[in-house]
Amino acid sequence: MMKFSFAATTFLGVVAVIGTVHADEPPACLTSTADLSVDIFTDKVEPLFSQGWNVTYHNTYKIANNLFDNTTYLLYQCGSTPPADVVDNGNFNAVLEIPLSNVGLSQTPHIGFMEQLELVDEIAAFLTDTDFISSPCFLDEIAAGNVLTLVEPSEGVDAPATGNTALSAGTVAFVASFTQVPFDNTVNIQEYSELTNVAVFEWVKFFSVFFNKEHTANQVVEAAESRFDCVAQNAGAVQADNMPVKPVVLWAYYSDFCGGWDVAECPNYYCEFANACGAEIISSTEGNTTVCGAPYMTTEELVELGKDADHWIYPSSNWDTASETFGEQLQNMKAVQDQQVFDYQASGENAWFEQRYAEYYNVLADFCAVVGTTQPLTGRSWFRNVFTEPVGSLPDCSPTQSANILDDVHICFLPTTGGAAAGGGSGSGGSSAKAIAVGTAALAAGLLSLIHVLLF
Ligand SMILES: *[C@@H]1O[C@H](CO)[C@@H](O)[C@H](O)[C@H]1NC(C)=O
Ligand SMILES: *[C@@H]1O[C@H](CO)[C@@H](O)[C@H](O)[C@H]1NC(C)=O
Ligand SMILES: *[C@@H]1O[C@H](CO)[C@@H](O)[C@H](O)[C@H]1NC(C)=O
Repeated sequence: MMKFSFAATTFLGVVAVIGTVHADEPPACLTSTADLSVDIFTDKVEPLFSQGWNVTYHNTYKIANNLFDNTTYLLYQCGSTPPADVVDNGNFNAVLEIPLSNVGLSQTPHIGFMEQLELVDEIAAFLTDTDFISSPCFLDEIAAGNVLTLVEPSEGVDAPATGNTALSAGTVAFVASFTQVPFDNTVNIQEYSELTNVAVFEWVKFFSVFFNKEHTANQVVEAAESRFDCVAQNAGAVQADNMPVKPVVLWAYYSDFCGGWDVAECPNYYCEFANACGAEIISSTEGNTTVCGAPYMTTEELVELGKDADHWIYPSSNWDTASETFGEQLQNMKAVQDQQVFDYQASGENAWFEQRYAEYYNVLADFCAVVGTTQPLTGRSWFRNVFTEPVGSLPDCSPTQSANILDDVHICFLPTTGGAAAGGGSGSGGSSAKAIAVGTAALAAGLLSLIHVLLF
């Protein structure tokens, strides 16, 4: 049968992660007769990558800590009472009955975490400008009037909409450590202080603790991590096999607010992308513009630093104004001359600050595609060529396709060495990754058949 022979030859080494079963079985609320010495939390999380949080489990309650700002939260299962001595001695920032429901959020990245836990319906209040939201399903919730929002967007975050003091008093809000919201109970989330993609995304586990969604959190973190590793292995093999010199990438954008160019500083999540893609990233801590208290580069400095870069990733949405203002100077840069400048708007202006956190393995595939060490089968969905491609958007909210990455079909080719990989993998090394670069369209068509076979 055609489909199977195709799979058995060209696709040796393919890793197809298809929709996985992911069901949490959270503990029920306790009754007054419950045995408090029984561990009811069968699913647990622990940080394998994050530096900034931990959680301990104590039969019927949990203690979750933000280790970056030393805030601590006691979470007790509904129907139970937390031990008085623990409450008294713990110096907790909040003592909360779980699972939480009807929570408030103040940061768009947290929408993505709630999406992965299938908890978008539990977001009852959104405390920042709704213009920054990307999630199509959450936007539908807002349009339907199901979410408390600020009365006037763009006016700051001083107060939630009027007439809802009862909600703000009873609701727990997840906030960034630097935000103040008028809620009685807040939980500080600090994923932005982590330095690697997997560590940032692993904060989804911290969220899960408040909702008894540990099972799902463990699954999504593991799925994303293995997908990332596969893309990285693949790109590394292509670079090692096919590129005598590493591609050089500039990561920089113009800050209108700070009046200068912000350039990559490693270590950081984007330096991790570059390394994983077998590329060299230009980084610098220098800069003569200090309007914002930190060094930003002048245009002269930027051009000097980045003029020979092969590719330029422009992590902002203001390329048009920057190129209008500085176009003449920027013309001295190789990446501009070669039309190799990419911003992050292939899925719209806001997805970068929301869905990116879970789909960081797809961002990696895009990054590798930009520098030439991978060719994505379905096209880039994060980095957009500012010269040749339009700003994109996410598909509408679908009742059948959730935003959970476990429902996303992910295909990755593991590099296989030796002569086993047929079709295109000729020459030394013979990795099947090469085959991807050779015949993407044909392979994509074949893959769709393969996926079809696997799914149905
Ligand atoms: C979690 O963090 C707290 C606060 O820093 C610390 O006292 C505790 O030992 C940590 N527990 C684990 C299991 O890492
Ligand atoms: C948190 O606690 C640790 C260990 O006691 C300390 O080193 C650190 O400075 C504290 N951080 C903050 C933000 O208070
Ligand atoms: C930046 O500042 C340094 C040190 O003050 C100076 O030597 C250099 O000429 C400046 N560069 C530009 C491009 O202004």
